[in-house]
Amino acid sequence: MKAWLCETLDGIAAMKWRELPTPEPLPGEVRIAIKAASLNFPDLLIVEGKYQFKPALPFVPGAEFSGLVDAVGEGVGHLKVGDPVAAIAGTGGFATHASVDATRVLPLPPGFALDDAAAFAFTYGTSHHALIDRAALQPGETVLVLGAAGGVGSSALQIAKAAGARVIAATSSDEKCALCTALGADATLNYSTANVREALKALTGGKGPDVVYDPVGGDLAEPVFRSIAWRGRYLVVGFAQGGIPALPWNLALLKGASIVGVFWGDFVKREPKASAAALAQLARWYGEGRIKPVIDQRLPMSELPAAYERMGRRQVMGKMVMVND
Ligand SMILES: NC(=O)c1ccc[n+]([C@@H]2O[C@H](COP(=O)([O-])OP(=O)(O)OC[C@H]3O[C@@H](n4cnc5c(N)ncnc54)[C@H](OP(=O)(O)O)[C@@H]3O)[C@@H](O)[C@H]2O)c1
Repeated sequence: MKAWLCETLDGIAAMKWRELPTPEPLPGEVRIAIKAASLNFPDLLIVEGKYQFKPALPFVPGAEFSGLVDAVGEGVGHLKVGDPVAAIAGTGGFATHASVDATRVLPLPPGFALDDAAAFAFTYGTSHHALIDRAALQPGETVLVLGAAGGVGSSALQIAKAAGARVIAATSSDEKCALCTALGADATLNYSTANVREALKALTGGKGPDVVYDPVGGDLAEPVFRSIAWRGRYLVVGFAQGGIPALPWNLALLKGASIVGVFWGDFVKREPKASAAALAQLARWYGEGRIKPVIDQRLPMSELPAAYERMGRRQVMGKMVMVND
């Protein structure tokens, strides 16, 4: 097999596309012949030792991937050779093969494209947990999605629309805003050029958004929180901008508003039944054409550094997908 091996925590520049022994699945594991793997923001952090989960060196990054089962370890009853699957394994995806704990492998329903499956559960799972579960989003409510053209952002936009909400998509460029309009956003806001507070007032008739979905953090958070509606829910999803915001608590009191933490990885571990039900609803929505991953570029697996560079430069619109021929 071939794999991108991370031997030091010096980022993608130090990584090598190496020939490695193809792993035999241990009891409880399956081996997957990987067809596609997508890049998520934590893949950038993990190779620099900046992510909360720090695997032992050396390791192969790539949290999320899809492919066909090509060997089954002892004691695995629900998967067989040839099954199309997606895996959320945390690591291992930027390779041609990976052996994975079978509990982290999802069989794919018929008609689920492998490229889409590699770019699905991480982002849509996060956004479903955030909007439907944590924020209890109601039809007709207004959702503001920050970083709305990014991986989790574009999934949040689609899920909020599928749930009957009105969506204001906010991004850093007119090009990203145009993508959001094409994805069904009711309104857009370019936060590089607009006065965010004034724009949100104008777009909501002075009321403010009921729900804010924030994977960006940094200096956007406080003006946005000041604009939230009465009984608003501010979803803390991530800090792609780097800075972790600190808010004066009186702002929450004044709006009767909630700051709501979202941690999809722990949700999956702590509440597996609820997570499985959410993924089943998402797979139905995918089958009905209501949601579909936005694929920015498909690149050969060997060109992974170009995908890292594009994400690091904040250029990705939707998801980067790496493919094996
Ligand atoms: N809480 C959870 O369970 C969970 C699950 C998955 C991901 N996350 C987090 O969500 C965040 C987004 O992940 P993602 O995979 O969607 O990443 P992504 O596709 O790169 O999207 C991140 C967006 O953040 C914005 N951004 C602002 N400043 C940035 C900067 N300095 N560098 C890069 N992007 C910047 C960009 O949009 P604009 O250019 O429009 O500003 C970009 O589209 C990450 O922090 C990730 O760790 C959290």
